[in-house]
Amino acid sequence: MTKYILFITVPLLFGCKKPASTVCSDQSALCEQTDFKIGTAVDISLLFSDVAYAEIARKQFNSITPENTFKPTEIHPSENGFNWTEADQLQEYCRLNNKRLHGHTLIWHQQLPGWMEQFNGNAEEWDTMMKTHIQEIVRHFKGKVSGWDVVNEAFNEDGTLRNNIWRQHIGDLYLEKAFNYAHEADPAALLFYNDYGLESNSTKRTAVLSHFKNLKMKGVRIDGIGMQMHLNIPGSDPGETAAAMVAVCQHDFLLHISEMDISVNPLNKTIKADKNLLEKQADLFGKIAFHYRQIPGKYRYGMTFWGISDKHTWIRSYFNRNDYPLLYDDDYSPKPAYCKLKEVL
Ligand code: G3I
Repeated sequence: MTKYILFITVPLLFGCKKPASTVCSDQSALCEQTDFKIGTAVDISLLFSDVAYAEIARKQFNSITPENTFKPTEIHPSENGFNWTEADQLQEYCRLNNKRLHGHTLIWHQQLPGWMEQFNGNAEEWDTMMKTHIQEIVRHFKGKVSGWDVVNEAFNEDGTLRNNIWRQHIGDLYLEKAFNYAHEADPAALLFYNDYGLESNSTKRTAVLSHFKNLKMKGVRIDGIGMQMHLNIPGSDPGETAAAMVAVCQHDFLLHISEMDISVNPLNKTIKADKNLLEKQADLFGKIAFHYRQIPGKYRYGMTFWGISDKHTWIRSYFNRNDYPLLYDDDYSPKPAYCKLKEVL
């Protein structure tokens, strides 16, 4: 317990005491500052059309997560048809630019193609359909995708299993089946369970960690947990987040901070992204990075930010609100958050 308290207390006392730099250069790369991967989610259309976006992606990050390109609706649009075009372009981009490619996501309850949502079959036929979906994709990218988000967001806030389409048709075993199918298709790939709120909701986190620890003890290949880290100012508590990181490591799972962004307008008010607010955001980014650096290196799969510029954040369209959650502003200038990470990492 002492070690735990010390782990939490020390960073809060000594971590990130320096004022965030309000202006800094991004001439040097964020990803060259750490021994673990620094990644970003990418929109492939921007990557191949927006010069400024592409230059930041190329220079600052050494791990890439497709924001949407690998999702079922994009990559498996018809039951007997896969669309590899953009996914292959992204994989080739990563190969040419020496970047890790993290596959997101095989099994989810959102962004499913119509044929999948309306699939008409019994439990065995659903199971076969899920196996085909997983194994066709994982086999296609065998040796080219380092890690997969095999299942995304399968738990409710109260720690129960989400009653998604997969569970409705296959039953609770769909989770371990999905991981087994992915492992069969590429035994070398690292396999993750990915979810939101694990950094703040201890009920959900405890349920997730014990569920996958039990599966791992049964011999199911599960390497890590993706903690999405969609945080809020006000609202997020870095101490709780640090405790969550420790909990993942104590269960002997790799920890991928998989989708980090920090909303500065969670209550959808009329706000100005002024210096004070952006420095608060920078300070929270810094604390999270500081805590992540404290976990044992063998568990650090990397920190991935869910986008590059505020201009394209999912938050603005999804919640239809003004927000500034990322490291670069609408004009592709580095924000205090970027500068703070340069200081901390
Ligand atoms: O591709 C279609 C396009 O053809 C159509 O014209 C357009 C307008 O309807 O929609 C386009 O699809 C959009 C898609 O992003 C690609 O841009 C969907 O409407 C839109 O809902 C979808 O949003 C994505 C969201 O997941 C879906 O829930 C976001 O970009 C993406 O950032 C977000 O990412 C998720 C992670 O995968 C899982 N964790 C949560 C995270 C945020 O929701």
